[in-house]
Amino acid sequence: MHFTTQSSLLPQDAVIVGLFQDDDFDASGQLLDELSNGALSAFKTRGILKGKTGEAHWFYDVAALEASVLVVGLGKADKYTKDSYIKALHTAAKAALKSPFKKISLGLASSLLNDSSSAEDKRWVISQAVVEFNYVSYRFEDFKSEASPASALEEVVLFSAEEANANESAIRYGEALANGIRFARHAVDLPSNVATPTYLAGQALALAQQSSAIQTQILEEKECEALGMGSFLSVTKGSVEPAKFIIMNYKGADDSVAPVVLVGKGISFDTGGISIKPAAGMDEMKMDMGGAASVLGTFRALADLKPKINVVGLIPSCENMPSGSATKPGDVVKSMSGKTIEVLNTDAEGRLILADALTYAERYNPKAVIDIATLTGAVIVALGTDVAALYSDDETLAAALLKSSERTRDHLWRMPIVNRYLESLTKTTCADLSNIATGGGRSAGSIVAACFLREFAKAYPWAHLDIAGVASQSGADGFATGRPVSVLVDYLVN
Ligand code: BES
Ligand code: MN
Ligand code: ZN
Repeated sequence: MHFTTQSSLLPQDAVIVGLFQDDDFDASGQLLDELSNGALSAFKTRGILKGKTGEAHWFYDVAALEASVLVVGLGKADKYTKDSYIKALHTAAKAALKSPFKKISLGLASSLLNDSSSAEDKRWVISQAVVEFNYVSYRFEDFKSEASPASALEEVVLFSAEEANANESAIRYGEALANGIRFARHAVDLPSNVATPTYLAGQALALAQQSSAIQTQILEEKECEALGMGSFLSVTKGSVEPAKFIIMNYKGADDSVAPVVLVGKGISFDTGGISIKPAAGMDEMKMDMGGAASVLGTFRALADLKPKINVVGLIPSCENMPSGSATKPGDVVKSMSGKTIEVLNTDAEGRLILADALTYAERYNPKAVIDIATLTGAVIVALGTDVAALYSDDETLAAALLKSSERTRDHLWRMPIVNRYLESLTKTTCADLSNIATGGGRSAGSIVAACFLREFAKAYPWAHLDIAGVASQSGADGFATGRPVSVLVDYLVN
């Protein structure tokens, strides 16, 4: 699918415009109504169109236009937001991709813009259209003998009054982001017998092959051992898959510029280990490398965008399996930081692998470290599947991430790091801290996990994203979401 922009709304094979509920068309719809000598408003008067959210109505071969028209409902005009626009794009993309048309004009951007819109908003409406059409077109069919029929859609012409250069850069940004999101979704959708730690390492090496700005280095178990990563290695002990510690380096600026370090949880499958999970739904734990996938996806986008910054990606990756050699509840391990950890529950493994990666991150003297992890079921109870949790003690970093979240509509909600909750982890007499609350209390599970991580992230400004709810969604529209690549790329680039 190819994207271009045009400052006039000339219909191609078809054209997509918006209609506000019980109200008027958006700017593109009004234009098209004039071009069609009032055919569109006639459809409205006859009550065929209501303009409700999710509504999509085709009018084929509208005579005055020699083109077909898709009218998409925008919902109430006074409640129209960026989120409504995303929904309208989603509806439009679904209809467009199913249609027989090759070249479609899309007028919807005009529904959100007015004379006072900022340059940033104008850029976003264009790039988001590119992202959403790509998002809807994604299929995961690697293992299907027969692929679903390909869409006829080849070109989307975005209606935008902006100057060509601004449009061109917005389209390029949207395409880079869409590629990053697709990359992350595919890695998450792949089953764990394919997407092993070795596979993830291979993907990181492939990114370095494709972009001269990216360098990748893989640490094998032996090297991790030499570095003292006893916490990370304790998780892989039960598995026959070799663990990998993946290091990616994006260099867009001088060496003197401090990098941002992204740390992604890369558990290729989480059985829980000896503290084994129930059978029902365990298959979904192939997504436990969603944090790692979002880091890889972000690097995929950086390769295209070439921003003048430095970024390091760290992915501790292994399988969490039960076996005769697996770590057992009550075992004590020594982390790279020197702190000892009593593993009271082998299913709280994400924090164990992240602890050593957070210590490893110190060597970069980073400007900031952000870890991204499908860390706790508790965060799903707290925030559901639309909102990821943001934890940070650093006001500047937290504010910047929330700003990016607001801009991209990739929702983050800031949660408190409650100092008192750390105490539930330091009561153990066997080690410096335990990996779950002594006594096994489950309250505030996502916060307790953040308290644990913070003990290993004191040398730099740090933020933690618990993405267990948002990285994948079991539903009709597919599994992996590619979140939070949008917010990470926005944070890094802006
Ligand atoms: N990978 C899971 C968290 C998870 C749960 C991700 C559901 C996606 C969906 C994590 O390793 C885990 O098992 N966490 C435990 C922690 C507990 C033992 C303190 C949990 O949330 O139950
Ligand atoms: Mn687990
Ligand atoms: Zn896990």
